[in-house]
Amino acid sequence: MSAPAALPGAPHLVRDGAVLRLDGHDLAALGRRFGTPLYVYSRRAMLDALAGYQRALQGRRHLVCYAMKANSNLAVLQTFAQAGCGFDIVSGGELDRVLAAGGDAAKVVFSGVGKTAAEMRQALVAGVRCFNVESEGELERLDEVARATGVRAPVSLRVNPDVDAGTHPYISTGLKGNKFGIAHADALAAYRRAAALPGLRVVGIDCHIGSQITQVEPYLDTAERMLDLVVQVEAAGIALEHIDFGGGLGITYTDEAPPPAETLVRRLLERVDARGFGDREILFEPGRSLVGNAGVLLTEVQYLKPGRTDEGGRNFCIVDAAMNDLMRPAMYQAWMRIEPCRQRDGVPLRWDIVGPVCESGDWLGRERDLVVQAGDLLAVLSAGAYGMTMASNYNTRPRAAEVLLDGTQVHLVRERESTAELFARERLLPG
Ligand code: LLP
Repeated sequence: MSAPAALPGAPHLVRDGAVLRLDGHDLAALGRRFGTPLYVYSRRAMLDALAGYQRALQGRRHLVCYAMKANSNLAVLQTFAQAGCGFDIVSGGELDRVLAAGGDAAKVVFSGVGKTAAEMRQALVAGVRCFNVESEGELERLDEVARATGVRAPVSLRVNPDVDAGTHPYISTGLKGNKFGIAHADALAAYRRAAALPGLRVVGIDCHIGSQITQVEPYLDTAERMLDLVVQVEAAGIALEHIDFGGGLGITYTDEAPPPAETLVRRLLERVDARGFGDREILFEPGRSLVGNAGVLLTEVQYLKPGRTDEGGRNFCIVDAAMNDLMRPAMYQAWMRIEPCRQRDGVPLRWDIVGPVCESGDWLGRERDLVVQAGDLLAVLSAGAYGMTMASNYNTRPRAAEVLLDGTQVHLVRERESTAELFARERLLPG
């Protein structure tokens, strides 16, 4: 029998003989114990991913703000809070989660293009570290809310550097045509405006150019453009205490080879130091690269529906997880690796792995060569990021349960929803 082999990009996930293990745990056994669909995460994999950022940032003022939209389970947030992280949030709801998980509001940066006045008030009262402001209109509103609340709002401007991150158009955010950030050419004027508003206190500069980025160059181009701005803004007498390079570092789903976080951060810091800004506090907002390869989605094969090959038909492997559980394939045509939890001997057939939802777009993987039978468990890999957080209740499907592995310990960190919960807030008409 061959030695246990780690799967690409996921060192904590190994094929041990026929058995697929995450952090040593037999995934098939977990699926049977907790039922499917089931998200399973490795706490150790998350902390190891974080350690790459931390090693490169050691010895300088920094804050890693985990972009919790990637995975906002309270136990995941608790893990990162205990490891010293702050959080990048995009809603009042996310702030509530940070606080419920024991996170520190003073380490929270509040991003997003559409913050409401109520969310601003909530964040000011909680004492967030800063607002990443994305438009002039938002500056004006934040100033009003801050003055009415009696708390000066710490502000960083999210600059749109107009750099092509080379990623999927839906998750590319740093180009001129995107809704995000303040155009590079308008940023200096926006800083002047911010500095003049009495309710605001300018503290930093930030950017975020996209997600699933697999090269260092777009980051370096962005850094140069950001640092050019820092020079201009400070020449105008406005001090910037921190520089936030956003998130976006990709992971390996198939054959992508993104730089390790440690390399990316070191290369960026070289630029920062070379331009004489080594004394500034450095922030990052990683999401996917901290949790993506730390999680899998387990699903049970319900039916096999082979096509008539003489008619060019497709073979459908119908599983109990669907687009409502994991939206990425349907939404971005994302390719996510699918592995049997127990490998069978035999000649593989080419399957489309599809869910029970009534949409042709409801698929998890297409044209996958697998030996499967009804009742088998499959694992969709790299599902730790943007899996559960994007799940819905479409087709009145309760959302999956979540398990967090912590060494030898197994913790159920979210119970499966019941259908009664799904319509508990609905009302029948009288009579
Ligand atoms: N900071 C800001 C302001 C963001 O908008 C995002 C992600 C991040 C940080 C974290 O980016 P990451 O390190 O995770 O790439 N649902 C899509 C990804 C959407 C990303 C949105 N913004 C997907 O499943 O691929």
